[in-house]
Amino acid sequence: MDLIVRSQPILPLRAWSALRTRGPGYAWHKVLRRLLSRHPNWKRQLLYADPRAYWTHRGGNDYFREQEGQPARSQRAAWIAQEVAKYRPTSILEVGCGYGKLLDELSVRLDATLCGVDFSPTQLEYAQRFLNRRSSIRLVLSRGERLPFPDDSFDLVVTSAVILHNTPQVAERIRREIVRVARGFAAHNEETGESYNRFGYDTARWYREHNVPLAESGPIPADLDQRTSQFCVARLDPVTKARILLPKP
Ligand SMILES: C[S@@+](CC[C@H](N)C(=O)[O-])C[C@H]1O[C@@H](n2cnc3c(N)ncnc32)[C@H](O)[C@@H]1O
Repeated sequence: MDLIVRSQPILPLRAWSALRTRGPGYAWHKVLRRLLSRHPNWKRQLLYADPRAYWTHRGGNDYFREQEGQPARSQRAAWIAQEVAKYRPTSILEVGCGYGKLLDELSVRLDATLCGVDFSPTQLEYAQRFLNRRSSIRLVLSRGERLPFPDDSFDLVVTSAVILHNTPQVAERIRREIVRVARGFAAHNEETGESYNRFGYDTARWYREHNVPLAESGPIPADLDQRTSQFCVARLDPVTKARILLPKP
């Protein structure tokens, strides 16, 4: 597919095109994003209140352009893929795979079964096109907090900038679902700092609090803010999984 990031037409043309191609809901989302750029609190309440709706509007071409225009994002995806590859997983699930940037990086480094889930149909449609040269990658429309897979389905489950878009209650359910479907490792890139468009979660601390050993934990070299950047990998086995999944006596 065409990977060139083209320059944008002028604003009224963009607004007309948004309305015509993707309907009033999308056009309204675009208008709000622009109007509220200086009002983070309003932006959080009006735009981010429903993360799935937000990612359905923002997903696809808009998100692709934004990400591919930032070399640091490509460096980050490559770095995460390289770290994940060190664990030699033979099957990987990415929860919140977006348009498939990390899955693509993983597919060139590993001969593993790859699967991506995302709750945004626009992100998954784009992933289908972006990854079409890697047709063996399975893509599933699903919420991370209710994964449609049996226990212990994947050697390794990874998330990158996903859990932080969800409220603390949903974030907790996503982490537990990941632990349930992973058999060996859970790897996370999740920022620890909160901002107007995301919650901040210290995932490494969450594992430590459950007495689950970490194979690694630290900032990602390509990230601008090293204080809030976090990548960690938890080692999972039936005993460590039980510490998280079974009710406390
Ligand atoms: C910032 S993007 C990151 C995409 C990809 N992981 C990457 O690094 O390029 C966040 C993605 O997570 C997805 N997402 C957020 N919360 C989710 C949830 N609860 N269940 C499934 N997908 C979710 C969004 O739809 C979006 O595609």
